[in-house]
Amino acid sequence: MDLQRYLEAALDAAYLARGIHLYYREKGFALESKTGPTDLVTQADRESEEAIRSLLLERFPDHVVLGEEGGQEGHSEFRWIVDPLDGTVNYAHGFPFYAVSIALEVGGEVVVGAVLDTARGELFTALKGEGAFQNGRPIRVSSTATLIGSLLATGFPYDVAKDAENLTYFQRALAKGLTVRRPGAAALDLAYVAAGRLEGFWEVKLNPWDVAAGWLLITEAGGTVSGIQGEPYRLGNRYLVASNGKIHGQLLDTLHGR
Ligand code: IPD
Ligand code: CA
Ligand code: CA
Repeated sequence: MDLQRYLEAALDAAYLARGIHLYYREKGFALESKTGPTDLVTQADRESEEAIRSLLLERFPDHVVLGEEGGQEGHSEFRWIVDPLDGTVNYAHGFPFYAVSIALEVGGEVVVGAVLDTARGELFTALKGEGAFQNGRPIRVSSTATLIGSLLATGFPYDVAKDAENLTYFQRALAKGLTVRRPGAAALDLAYVAAGRLEGFWEVKLNPWDVAAGWLLITEAGGTVSGIQGEPYRLGNRYLVASNGKIHGQLLDTLHGR
């Protein structure tokens, strides 16, 4: 399989999205709410997904795209999984922590992942079996082996007031005196675990487009991604726990209140 060719397409699409993100940040944009007042969408989300979709389907007419804004039409062994703008609330406020995330799944396995921080221009990429990279340089997860001294991150769904499960996990981590951030763009949080900037990350209720690329980045950078019981992660799992591997068991214990 020509993974390089797929990566090249993912990057062309990601940089198109970057242009659209930058354009609307300069020009201004209208905000609409989706499922509730804090779940926002902008023209930048919609237009970048359209641009990504058109590019990928033009190059690979027999593939399908699953995108956050437009869903999925049809079926194919080759499925692109796209979050055209991860961190929309940050984007809307000009808080520079948001990204575009593009992954390719072949026969149910993610084989290409790209997360582009469209504010800073940092690019994180991974190919199955070939490692993870930041702007072309190999990256590895951190070697920190204790939770004290680790920098952790989490995130919350838009309906956290109704579905407060992660507040319990968050409280358990804070109660142990751990350092936990809530940056607001899951794809980038995962890329930061891969790059050794965060030791661990967890979230409840993420969608495949938030995690597909970041999951591959972490495994290719030597880290671990699991469900809440420590079982191997699969797209669609309600829970995701990611780490450098060394703190994984301790992080799971903390989330479970042990
Ligand atoms: C959201 C971000 C956020 C996470 C939410 C996601 P969006 O994605 O990744 O960090 O906590 O669960 O929905 O809506 O900005 O693409
Ligand atoms: Ca997202
Ligand atoms: Ca999004």
